[in-house]
Amino acid sequence: MNRFILAFAFVACVQAGYSQPSSSEKGLKDYYKNLFPIGVAVSPQALKTDEAKLILKQFNSMTPENAMKMGPIHPTESEYFWTHADSIVAFAQRNNLMMRGHTLCWHNQTPNWLFTDANGNPASKEILLQRLKEHITSVVTRYKGKVYAWDVVNEAISDKPDEYLRNSEWLKICGEEYIAKAFQYAHEADPNALLFYNDYNEINPIKREKIFKLVKGLKDAGVPIHGVGLQGHWALNEPSRLQLDSTLTRFSELGLKIQITELDISVYPKEHNARERKAEDYNSTFTKEKEAKQIEVYKMCFELFKKHKNAISGVTFWNISDRHSWLDNFPVRGRKDYPLLFDKDLKPKKAYWAVVEVPK
Ligand code: XIL
Repeated sequence: MNRFILAFAFVACVQAGYSQPSSSEKGLKDYYKNLFPIGVAVSPQALKTDEAKLILKQFNSMTPENAMKMGPIHPTESEYFWTHADSIVAFAQRNNLMMRGHTLCWHNQTPNWLFTDANGNPASKEILLQRLKEHITSVVTRYKGKVYAWDVVNEAISDKPDEYLRNSEWLKICGEEYIAKAFQYAHEADPNALLFYNDYNEINPIKREKIFKLVKGLKDAGVPIHGVGLQGHWALNEPSRLQLDSTLTRFSELGLKIQITELDISVYPKEHNARERKAEDYNSTFTKEKEAKQIEVYKMCFELFKKHKNAISGVTFWNISDRHSWLDNFPVRGRKDYPLLFDKDLKPKKAYWAVVEVPK
């Protein structure tokens, strides 16, 4: 009798079109266990809320969203602030999650003291490289054996089509050499860590080739680099299947590992620069149309990740759920976005069920 009722209920659900998990015990990491680890960017605060339980069920890798960046972790020359990064690493250790480190050298969230000498003048190349070495050595040594992979240099390529490297303080003071040096310092501090170059808008054919050229150049010069991180901050309107497929094919040709390091699918057309809020930004409803398109894009991305599974060694989401995402404040401050696979109540969205279908 009970079995009859259960079977009836099941048929009713299927007819109603509800997605049924094959097992509610399984998380993303379990569906993808034969393909690659599934990670998530976290804050130390999130690990003290109900989000911690979700992380443990769904993910087997973590990246600190901000806690290991130069500014937060090294606010003045003589002072490191370890508390937040330590607590994230301790959580990973306690619960057997893999840890990615993010990031050792970037032009953003970088403390001002780094580029200035004792007299308030721009630091010399020699001083800046010495500081970079000291910084990387301290951070990588502290988490040696606990962080398995590092985003060593982040976003060094320019977005301007006719400019190769971003005209950052790093480039202005050191020239291109700072990039190879950062990898060398990280490798010396932890020879077992996997070292990545990480960047965004990697699906753009012009930027893609510049990233390819940089990483290939480093590899050919014998610099210890083991992979390329494609951030994967995408949207409903891009990438197309063809664009993503050719991006993954192109980066596979490097013969290094690829990781998708910061995946999210914004429900707004992609923009890469912060801007003022306009009247039309006030309508931030997650409509059925947006939901349907997002399901399609997520499905397409994971189908292609599966296709390129031999090159891809990790996929990390940038934030946990639609409760909070950095895209709520970027590119438009205060415009709510819905870019992830879990809703604000931490329930799997329909896109989640589309993604877990892919490996089956
Ligand atoms: C973002 C964080 O998510 C925000 O909390 C912070 O205010 C700014 O940085 N590319 C990167 C990440 O490599 O470090 C950025 O993270 C998002 C874009």
